[in-house]
Amino acid sequence: MNHLLKMLDLSKEEIIDILNLADQLKYENKNGIQHHVLKGKTLGMIFQKSSTRTRVSFETGMYQLGGQALFLSNRDLQIGRGEPVQDTARVLSRYLDGIMIRTFEQKEVEDLAEYGSIPIINGLTDFCHPCQVLADLMTVREFKGQFDGLKMCYIGDGNNMANSLIVGGLKVGMEVSIACPNDYQPDPQVLEFVKQYGDKFSMTDVPLEAAKDADVLFTDVWTSMGEEAETEKRKIAFAGYQINDEIMSAAKPDAMVQHCLPAHREEEITEKVFEAHADEIFEEAENRLHAQKAVMVRVMSDKK
Ligand code: CP
Ligand code: NVA
Repeated sequence: MNHLLKMLDLSKEEIIDILNLADQLKYENKNGIQHHVLKGKTLGMIFQKSSTRTRVSFETGMYQLGGQALFLSNRDLQIGRGEPVQDTARVLSRYLDGIMIRTFEQKEVEDLAEYGSIPIINGLTDFCHPCQVLADLMTVREFKGQFDGLKMCYIGDGNNMANSLIVGGLKVGMEVSIACPNDYQPDPQVLEFVKQYGDKFSMTDVPLEAAKDADVLFTDVWTSMGEEAETEKRKIAFAGYQINDEIMSAAKPDAMVQHCLPAHREEEITEKVFEAHADEIFEEAENRLHAQKAVMVRVMSDKK
């Protein structure tokens, strides 16, 4: 594995390998065992959108692996003034050992990988959020023990989280159901991908139908970063696409709830359901650290 650009690029074996390493790094971290496998290495972190979890977990993770991380804001980089990504990639490749980038267009991430000569990690684009979904899968396996036989349900916008969860969930062997309004379906590339999974994938615009007998329920904000101008329109389109008591009673009695955060209480999830499942949701947030450390080890370590 040379980069982490999108879940579509990973095989099931690569995903499971990252999850196994993430579990090991988590165990070692909790037991005070140091693992400085990226000693002397530098990760550049380019942010063209806001972040709490991604920034802090990558920066801390890199430090725990013995390296350092540089926070590179769009406001300060020349890329923000129009320097082409092709040139930025070739320059940064001469200083850094890896780049994590959070931006709008997936093409920018793919271009960085094409023109640069160092590993590129996608820290969220409008198309996908692979780091988040690796942490999500890690959390599901931690709480449920396995993937086989589980039904994962996502309710809400067919956005970057939906795109990545669908691909990741199906690849590891879960059944995946989606409920989204017809005008907000997942990316066509993802809807093409699911065809090979037959009835292990289903999509509806009726949340209760999608949630039936689910083992894991996911949701995400109705308005993602960059779509703020559509907030009011989206509030109308997504009314009813909420994880609440009614949805929970359609799911299995021991269903877990996941949210990538930040959450908007009483929009995509009620305060009551959120707080009842806070342990699972904040474990998921913690697992960003461990899953991303595993990704960095796999793509940046000299010993691959
Ligand atoms: N879930 C997630 O990526 O959070 P941040 O936007 O805070 O990084
Ligand atoms: N879909 C959200 C995820 C945030 C982590 C967004 O893109 O803003």
